[in-house]
Amino acid sequence: MWYPKLALLMAIAAAGLAQTSTPRKLIASLDGKDLFVAYCASCHGMDAMGKGPVAPALKVEVPNLRWIEKRRGGKFPVPELEKLILGEGDLRAAHGSREMPVWGPVFMRVEKDQDMGLVRVRRLVDYLKTLQAR
Ligand code: HEC
Repeated sequence: MWYPKLALLMAIAAAGLAQTSTPRKLIASLDGKDLFVAYCASCHGMDAMGKGPVAPALKVEVPNLRWIEKRRGGKFPVPELEKLILGEGDLRAAHGSREMPVWGPVFMRVEKDQDMGLVRVRRLVDYLKTLQAR
């Protein structure tokens, strides 16, 4: 009874991992929530609380993105978060390996997409801001 359930979970996790390790197709929407569901929910969860289907397969705990502000003593540093998502900063160096995929190359794959890539990241961060626990 127990094993089929576990196998199913592993299959879901594996599918999610395969998805995140291969270059992602760019979705047309520039809506923060749509982007979050398409690119982030597999790990961070639909509710952003860190319990997406891929989360158990990772070596590190996936952070609850409703607590970004709480973790930083009430600050929501937009540029820092944008860099973190794009993979430009090396914010994770202190914590060892980076488990979260780098999104810059996905969002800005072709040159004409550069500006739109920045719009995508900005909208994502705006969306995350609306989720912060008060
Ligand atoms: C493969 C799983 C995975 C996916 C997909 C993913 N993340 Fe993450 N994310 C993580 C992990 C794990 C961390 C913790 C840091 C680390 O180990 O890299 C993290 C950290 C973060 C942080 C830092 C939180 C903090 O308070 O320091 C932000 C912000 C974030 N992710 C946003 C996003 C956004 C936006 C997306 C979608 C574009 C996304 N993540 C997609 C796994 C993922």
